[in-house]
Amino acid sequence: MKMRKPIVVANWKMHKLVAEARDYVRRFRPLVEGLDRVEIVLAPPFTALAPLAEELKGSQIKLAAQDTWHEAQGAYTGEVSALMLRELGCRYVIIGHSERREHCKESDELINLKLKGAFAYDLIPILCVGERLEERQAGKTVAVLEGQLRADLAGLAKGDVARLVIAYEPVWAIGTGETASPEDANEGAKFIRALVADLYDEATAQSVRIQYGGSVRPENIAALMAQEEIDGALVGGASLDPVVFAEIVRRAQGGEEER
Ligand code: PGA
Repeated sequence: MKMRKPIVVANWKMHKLVAEARDYVRRFRPLVEGLDRVEIVLAPPFTALAPLAEELKGSQIKLAAQDTWHEAQGAYTGEVSALMLRELGCRYVIIGHSERREHCKESDELINLKLKGAFAYDLIPILCVGERLEERQAGKTVAVLEGQLRADLAGLAKGDVARLVIAYEPVWAIGTGETASPEDANEGAKFIRALVADLYDEATAQSVRIQYGGSVRPENIAALMAQEEIDGALVGGASLDPVVFAEIVRRAQGGEEER
């Protein structure tokens, strides 16, 4: 039995118009009703956050944004702040996803600022880290994770880090259908937890929740969740269908229980 409450997040990326998002929630809610041993979070595009906050009233399902800016307000054309996201009812925010690191050239320095910006307005970041295929093949997985985490977490307060969610997402496993083996995923998570213990202390490391992300599906979630260090999943493609994602949530919470 894990002490940390598992958290399963649907990262919709740039998918779903508002009407589609509403329809998803109307179908999804009854499927996960009463499932409360895992935290369930939906991360729709910015445009669907406000409508979904309304749809999710009275439900245990929480909302996450997929990114944020580090200042609360100012001359940052096109950006959205943690303060604004909080106003909409977001509880979480994904920060440093590999697609943003790659396509938007986000640096660890910027990610570090964004983490601080999120905590300043009481949003809990879901920080994504992970190695690329060539880095793994060159035996650099651990060095990459360490480099990202040291830079991303620089200067963060212990109390904030204790609330953090970290998603270990090997870049080669994202959207490829190629999931890391449960053992490799666990090794990655284990290394991340040990590094947090090193940077902070053991109690902080034990309270951080570490997800695995990268081609998670109903067929592989149970084996991933059975790993000691894995406290949930960040799910992309398989989260776009409410029936499939509900099945992932159900299996993530351990099982075959009847509803
Ligand atoms: P995937 O995406 O489940 O489609 O591999 C995961 C992610 O990018 O968070």
